Amino acid sequence: MKEGICSIQSQFDVDLKECQSAKSVEALKVHYLGRKGLVQDQLKNLRHVPDAEKPAAGKMVNDLKEYIEGRLDSALQECILREENSRLAQESIDITLPGRKNPIGSKHPITDILDEMVDIFVQMGFSVQSAPEVETEYYNFDVLNMGEDHPARDMQDTFYVAPGVVLRTHASNVQGRIMETTNPPIRVICPGRCFRNESISSRSHVFFHQIDGLYVDVDVSLQDLIATLTQFIRAFFKKEVDVKIRPSYFPFVEPGIEVDISCHLCDGKGCRLCKHSGWLEILGAGMVHPQVLRNVGLDPEKYSGYAWGLGIERMICLRHGIADIRLFAENDMRFLRQFPAP
Ligand code: DAH
Repeated sequence: MKEGICSIQSQFDVDLKECQSAKSVEALKVHYLGRKGLVQDQLKNLRHVPDAEKPAAGKMVNDLKEYIEGRLDSALQECILREENSRLAQESIDITLPGRKNPIGSKHPITDILDEMVDIFVQMGFSVQSAPEVETEYYNFDVLNMGEDHPARDMQDTFYVAPGVVLRTHASNVQGRIMETTNPPIRVICPGRCFRNESISSRSHVFFHQIDGLYVDVDVSLQDLIATLTQFIRAFFKKEVDVKIRPSYFPFVEPGIEVDISCHLCDGKGCRLCKHSGWLEILGAGMVHPQVLRNVGLDPEKYSGYAWGLGIERMICLRHGIADIRLFAENDMRFLRQFPAP
């Protein structure tokens, strides 16, 4: 029996040396110490040992069991530690690596500048209104005193969606809708996209953006209009800008004006952008035509008002020295990335 125990022990030593993982140590444990394992066999064999030798033989088997248990335990600990360390080594965070950047989107330059302009007008007491981009001819033209034979209604300029329905050609379509439903004083702006059937070039596009403004109350004067627009222009460009008012014609205002500002790029000296005139036209405006007031049920003897329509693309071009408005519609990332999120 003694030889049997010795050979089990030495075989165990050999087997243990080959164990590289916790899993194989566990398997070895079953093989030696399990219910049908080799140590158990030895315990069973004690039955055949003469009584006198039993205590010594029993002790030998117990010693073998303790020896195997002890060595298996420490081998298991070692394996677990080794496996844990190698897992951690694979998982560990390398703090010298550059961080992962989450790309942050930014507003389109047009949205950005629209928001900025809206803020200025809101501070001046205007509230923001919207009007449909798909609009009836009535609100886009008729109510604004643009009769059926007005040249702007020509198929060349207007996208027709259905008979009597157009893509709005200007944000002035807000005016009839607001005046019909609101009692003066009315002080609103309407920022948004407009559409015209124009050939696309560096200076014109089939869609563009405007901020239309409308102020109706008693005793509103042209002087109020000019003061409001001048104040807006200074707030936007954050410096003194020369403003030139020229008489102009729009069917829905009387008198009508156009506002030019001194060219930002050349400081009024003359360049390609301002066609060497030193001035740039940025908006059309005027006093709301009495017929428009009548069309919406307001008494022109009692009320007067002013309105304006400001082109957005032109203002961005001025601010950033951009010469081609097609860039705003192309979504070329190389262009857009130049206007990062603040
Ligand atoms: N709607 C005009 C345009 O698109 C601009 C304009 C001129 C708007 C005079 C107005 C205004 O509100 O009073 O060209």
